[in-house]
Amino acid sequence: MTAAEFKAKKTEDLPEKGRFKWEAPSNIALVKYWGKKGEQLPTNPSVSFTLNASATRTELTYQKCSEPWKTPDFEILLDGLAAPDFKPKISAFFNRILPYMPFLQEYRFEISTANTFPHSSGIASSASGMAALALCLMDLEREIYPETDGDYFHTKASFIARLGSGSASRSILGPLVLWGSHPSLSGSSDLYGIRYPLEVHPVFESYQDTILLVDKGRKTVSSSVGHGLMKGHPFASQRFSQAGRHLEELLPIFKSGDLEKFMSVVESEALSLHAMMMSSMPYFLLMKPGTLEIIERIWSFRKESGHPLCFTLDAGANVHVLYPESAAGPVYSFIREALLPFCEGGQHICDQVGKGSRKL
Ligand code: PMV
Repeated sequence: MTAAEFKAKKTEDLPEKGRFKWEAPSNIALVKYWGKKGEQLPTNPSVSFTLNASATRTELTYQKCSEPWKTPDFEILLDGLAAPDFKPKISAFFNRILPYMPFLQEYRFEISTANTFPHSSGIASSASGMAALALCLMDLEREIYPETDGDYFHTKASFIARLGSGSASRSILGPLVLWGSHPSLSGSSDLYGIRYPLEVHPVFESYQDTILLVDKGRKTVSSSVGHGLMKGHPFASQRFSQAGRHLEELLPIFKSGDLEKFMSVVESEALSLHAMMMSSMPYFLLMKPGTLEIIERIWSFRKESGHPLCFTLDAGANVHVLYPESAAGPVYSFIREALLPFCEGGQHICDQVGKGSRKL
C-alpha cells in the first residue's frame, strides 16, 4: 500500500464521545533499525520478536469539540498523574498523523497510559506506548468508518504508530514482525510492519527473553539523535547492507530452527548497532561495565554448558538474554546466580515472545 491510501476521507458524520482501551507489547529487534530517512522511514529492514509481558495499556477518551482545533487538544496521564513531559512528543505525533486522520481535529482527547514494566527501568516505552495510542485512534477511525476491515486496521495502526516511533510499527502484531522493504520478502514495506510472512520453526514461538536491567537511568543520547548520526556516518552504507544481508541469512534459520546460526546473527547485530554508536561523530557509548561482564559470562556459560543462550541489546545498557523454552530451567538458574549481580538491585523482567496487541 502507498501512504496516500491511508488518508481517511472527510466526513460530517462523527460520533459525539466515547472511549477505547488497548494493550500493545514492547518488541526486541533481532535485526536492528538504526538510521532513518524521509518521514520516519527506515534506512534498512528490521525484524523483531514481539514481547508478551512488557506492554503499555492506554485508554483514550474522546469528546467532540465545538470547533476544530489548531493545536492538538489533549491531556495525558501516566499512572493516573498528569504527564506534561510527554506533551511535546504527542503533540508532534498528532500533527504528523493529521493528514491521514483529519477527523482528529474535531476532538478533544484524554490519554491515560500505564506500563506493565517498572517506570524508569531503562526500557523504552515509546514502541509499546505509540502502538497502544495508534490502536486506540484506529478504533475511533473504525467507529467513524465501520467498513474498515481487520487487515487494513492492523496495517494502518502500524503505519500510524511508525509516525510516532519507528520501532512502534513492530508492536501491533506477533510473534515475529518485519518492517522495511526487502526484495526477498513480498509484502514487506518501509511504511508499516507486517507479520513475518514465511515459515517459522515452533522453537521461536515460545522463545524466552530475560531482560537484565543493568542501568535504569536516562540514556545520555536518545534514539532520535542516534538515528540522526547515521547521516554522514563513515560506515552507514556498509551497515545498511549488512542489515539486509543479516535478514536474508535469518530466513532459512527461522524455518529450520538452527539456533547456532541464529545466535551468531543476533549477537553480531547487537554489537554492530553499538559499533555504529561508537564510531558516530560525535561518538558515544551506551553499554556499561555490567553490560560487558554479562556478555562475557553468557559466552563462557554457553561454551561450558552447550546451552543455546545468546544476548541482544537495544539502544541502552540493558541486556536481553534470549533462549528457547526447553533450556529455561538451567539458563534461568545461571542468570539468577551469575548475571543478576550486575543488575541494579537485581532487577530483571522475565518475558517471552508474544502474540501482539489486544483490545481491553
Ligand atoms: O523506534 P526508535 O526510534 O526508538 O528506535 C529504536 C532503535 C533500536 O531499538 C535501537 C533498534 C530497533 O530496531 O528497535
